[in-house]
Amino acid sequence: MTANLGNVPLRFLHCMFPSRGQYKMSRLICYTGRWKCCVKSVSNHSTPSAMSTHTQQVPLDYSRFLNPLSSRRSPSKIREITKLYAVAPPGTVFFAGGFPNPRTFPFAETKITLKDGTTFTLSGKSLESALQYQPTQGYPPLVKQLREMTLKTHNPPNWENYEILVTTGSQDGLSKAFDMSLEEGEPVIVQHPIYTGALAAIKPLCPQFICIPEDENGMRPDKLKESLEACFKNKSVNDERGVPKLMYITPTGGNPTGTVLPLERKKEIYQLACKYNLLILEDDPYYHLHFMNENPISFLSMDTEGRVLRFDSFSKILSSGIRLGFVTGPKQLVKMIELHMQVGCLHTASLSQVIASNLFELWDSGKLNKHIESVQTFYKSKRDMMIRAAEKYLTGLAEWNVPKAGMFLWVKVKGVQDVYDMVSIRAVQKNVLVVPGHAFLADPSQPCPYIRLSYTMPSEEEINKGMANLAELIKEEQSHH
Ligand SMILES: Cc1ncc(COP(=O)(O)O)c(C=O)c1O
Repeated sequence: MTANLGNVPLRFLHCMFPSRGQYKMSRLICYTGRWKCCVKSVSNHSTPSAMSTHTQQVPLDYSRFLNPLSSRRSPSKIREITKLYAVAPPGTVFFAGGFPNPRTFPFAETKITLKDGTTFTLSGKSLESALQYQPTQGYPPLVKQLREMTLKTHNPPNWENYEILVTTGSQDGLSKAFDMSLEEGEPVIVQHPIYTGALAAIKPLCPQFICIPEDENGMRPDKLKESLEACFKNKSVNDERGVPKLMYITPTGGNPTGTVLPLERKKEIYQLACKYNLLILEDDPYYHLHFMNENPISFLSMDTEGRVLRFDSFSKILSSGIRLGFVTGPKQLVKMIELHMQVGCLHTASLSQVIASNLFELWDSGKLNKHIESVQTFYKSKRDMMIRAAEKYLTGLAEWNVPKAGMFLWVKVKGVQDVYDMVSIRAVQKNVLVVPGHAFLADPSQPCPYIRLSYTMPSEEEINKGMANLAELIKEEQSHH
């Protein structure tokens, strides 16, 4: 078999054809070819007081971050063989896969025209790739491009131990990360208020939410420290249950708040994650949608210990319907998300991946950056329209912070303890639709005076009209309280 498969590395074959028993962590480590054994890096840190922030000499024990369900996942043999198809030398006769023959597909050509008039055409081999099964990790040329982009943007210190996985939007990777790690009833640390999509992914696991409040600069490290000290009182960081191991954060353009976590806070939070052996889920779909002079420094950029899983998205800068995102992080964990994909969607749509890859090939990084700048300028002007309208119509009626990134204005309505009925019943009659803050609370049964307004779609005229309607509504509401 080895001879037929040419230069396919032996460790790859071992991984493809594991023994009949369950897929073991040791086999996964064998697959990566770098992590020879799993050493409990925190075993000498039995209590928080004994812990210091350690530099990463010893690999983390990632099994801590896997729940029993994900530990039982094993590679799909067919999916692993599909990978070989992508790297097999020319002349290899491929009896293995169940690929439909693209000659039977009805599509002959796809021409994409960009708004600047440039075009590219998918035909022949590139169209075949776009219509054919691909490895679960992603269309190989795209994976290569994403690696290069991530290295350039974040320059992660742990790069050789990281892997990248293309996902169907960042939500796909994110929800699979929760599924991979959380066990029913376990505590999980979240920035609060929290993105509804993350809430929806976590809630079925019936977690104990440890909600860390935000101020105008995002999650508060002082509150995080207090909570962690309380959680780990008389407990070891190696306790399997009862202590948190995951921390979910949206550092740039928090949804719903629009906050950006400053570098100093990130450093403090990262140090706490090291001290308490936490995995940081860095959900950063608005990374490029900030209104600041410089790009933020990501958690991934400072991840000396290999404890960050980062989720990127092309939804906000290329297209949301193209459904493209990617996960970057420790190979062992990214591999587990990949195994989950292997039994679900098999891989993210090839057509989307090939279109994106061709676009990145056509655009050098200068052109891509120019495009991102134009997207930033667009949303910044929308944000400014929204703020002008808020100042004109809502002054005295509500409070807000100016969003530093993202798509939303988070507004606290004054003198109304709970906006639920106002928003869900009476706002519709006033021709204005907003989201009640409850949607972003771990416990939505609590009264909430906040609403979330999106400034991405309406024109300036519509923004003003909507704000005027909202102001009327709030005044009426306040008069009843
Ligand atoms: C904070 C956050 N995370 C993840 C997502 C999901 O994005 P995607 O379209 O990449 O799945 C969103 C979408 O709005 C979001 O606001």
